[in-house]
Amino acid sequence: MLELTDIEAGYGRTQVLHGVTVPTGKVVAVLGHNGAGKTTLLRLAIGLIKPSRGRVVFDGENIASLAPHQRVARGMAYVPQGQQAFGQLTTMENLQLVADGRRRGKALIDAQLARFPALEKFATRKAGLLSGGQRQQLAIARALITEPKLLILDEPTEGIQPTIVAEIEHTIMQLAGEGIHVLLVEQHIGFALEAAEHYVVLASGFVAQTGEGGSAATPSVRAAMAI
Ligand SMILES: Nc1ncnc2c1ncn2[C@@H]1O[C@H](COP(=O)(O)OP(=O)(O)OP(=O)(O)O)[C@@H](O)[C@H]1O
Ligand SMILES: [Mg+2]
Repeated sequence: MLELTDIEAGYGRTQVLHGVTVPTGKVVAVLGHNGAGKTTLLRLAIGLIKPSRGRVVFDGENIASLAPHQRVARGMAYVPQGQQAFGQLTTMENLQLVADGRRRGKALIDAQLARFPALEKFATRKAGLLSGGQRQQLAIARALITEPKLLILDEPTEGIQPTIVAEIEHTIMQLAGEGIHVLLVEQHIGFALEAAEHYVVLASGFVAQTGEGGSAATPSVRAAMAI
């Protein structure tokens, strides 16, 4: 689905990613400590920053020169780190912003309200008054309204209460079951490895380790992350 090969990228003269290749798979986890380059890699995947070297291919097409909205039109969706929403708009209005102009817009919203009962319950509440976990669910729901083939999630469980963490993890498994590919950034390796077909560990912008997911991978990933 998404192929990121031998990527070099950064901000201005600061190079952050050094020859990073990400394995492909249904659910792919990107692991690594703070500042390892995880968000930078996702920003590159969706087209917010451009690589100085390397290949970015989606569904067999070289998308390196495409803008983010063109990548979304091809079936990529991105949920940035930090539970972002329009705080002054209601839950429903946040969803309508994405659904407006889409055929089946209402059905797409209804499908997400059914997926996330908390959003249905708080449909008329301002997003700024939702809990962090509910705002994260709202951000995922908004992304899903674009009917992506690939959902890119940046630390979706960071700083969120445990009950909603479990719900979000359940959602990720559910999406994989529905045939949606997921590129998942996580610092907490337990669930990420359980969910992932393949993983990559970044350390200071380099690939420290890659491998197949599953809990058997946990000890070697812990070792790689201790570097
Ligand atoms: N806009 C920017 N301009 C310059 N440098 C940046 C910018 N954003 C990030 N960096 C630097 O790039 C490096 C990687 O940052 P990045 O946000 O990709 O890490 P991360 O793995 O997502 O970290 P975290 O786990 O804290 O979210 C860091 O050294 C950071 O300081
Ligand atoms: Mg980050």
